[in-house]
Amino acid sequence: MSVTSIQFKAFAGQTLQAELLGDAKNPAVLMILDAASNVAEWRRIADALLLSGRHVVMLYLRTSGAMDAASDYFPHVDDMRAILAQMLSRPVIMAAGRGAAIALRALQQDGAHLAAGLISVDLHADDGLDGQNMGHIPSLYIAGGLTGLDAVPRHDGTLVSSLISDVPLAKFVQLDAAEPDDVHEALLGQLLEFLELYHPRDAREFRSGSDPRTLRDAMGLFATGVTIVTAVGDNGDAIGMTANSFTSVSLDPPLLLVCIAKSAGSAPHLQSTTKFGVNVLQIGQQPASNRFASKVEDRFAGIDWTMGETGVPLLDGSLVSFECERQTLHDAGDHFILVGHVMRAQFEPHRDPLLFFRGKYRRLHFA
Ligand SMILES: Cc1cc2nc3c(=O)[nH]c(=O)nc-3n(C[C@H](O)[C@H](O)[C@H](O)COP(=O)(O)O)c2cc1C
Repeated sequence: MSVTSIQFKAFAGQTLQAELLGDAKNPAVLMILDAASNVAEWRRIADALLLSGRHVVMLYLRTSGAMDAASDYFPHVDDMRAILAQMLSRPVIMAAGRGAAIALRALQQDGAHLAAGLISVDLHADDGLDGQNMGHIPSLYIAGGLTGLDAVPRHDGTLVSSLISDVPLAKFVQLDAAEPDDVHEALLGQLLEFLELYHPRDAREFRSGSDPRTLRDAMGLFATGVTIVTAVGDNGDAIGMTANSFTSVSLDPPLLLVCIAKSAGSAPHLQSTTKFGVNVLQIGQQPASNRFASKVEDRFAGIDWTMGETGVPLLDGSLVSFECERQTLHDAGDHFILVGHVMRAQFEPHRDPLLFFRGKYRRLHFA
């Protein structure tokens, strides 16, 4: 992921360091970091936001002494206003702890037009916050305890939650989970939902029609996993192709199906074989998915695989591998439907799946 370092002009001739990640044409998220921030955790979130099509600006506040009183937020509030005014588009600000208190002050009253929204994590709500000033822009207040974004001791979210209970554009969420990874996923889920709602990547548009393009795009809105269907080809070599048309069909007897384009090079093999494998891919197998969807000659080169007990090729490290005997073959337009009787399944339950949606690979944002 490319990262560019830049300097913003801040208040009173100072400059502040920032890192730009991702395409500046995408809607921006301005992350506020200071000396107490856990940079590794912020980066983890920044990476996930990049993957979901965001431009991330990581801004490092100027270093200063302890900030005990509200007046100590000077000059940071002025810094933030100066920087927001220089940004190419109005960002959603994301900040934790004292960074959130600074952002909130920068956006109060006449500063509201500077940002599209505010995501505040573990806000230190003990220094004169006031519900009326918290509702100028769409705001998400998250209290998480274990989020690990900020080294400063946390306050519980009760005060924040009571302050914003009647504020129309503000939402409060308390994250409760024992495992830091669960909190990370839950936090990410909240962020992405908020961003999609108030700072969507594409302007909302509705399309309708019955032409092939519209129908294809409509079908692509059904989110799926990704599989690689394998078999031993007519010439004795392993063959395989990427397919997301996988469906579980029946439990008793155990049946599944995949739809194969008649035009696919693998189609004749899959039409004649009596056995085939279906490998459901995990997030790390995106390169394999590309390979088995391409015209590469030897798709299995560089891929670890083993011959399953029933004699079908299985890709190592898959989320699930099903070994099937062909049950039926149905003609269906320009595809045929291959129904398999599952003889054996092996799976690794702890990995994240590779997903496919609107023509792109995706990942799970939260469990
Ligand atoms: C994510 C993804 C899902 C796909 N799903 C299917 C599918 O369900 N059925 C199909 O026939 N082709 C599907 N394809 C296309 C085939 O993988 C592609 O045409 C491949 O080149 C077929 O290989 P072959 O023609 O050498 O057999 C998919 C491709 C991708 C990237």
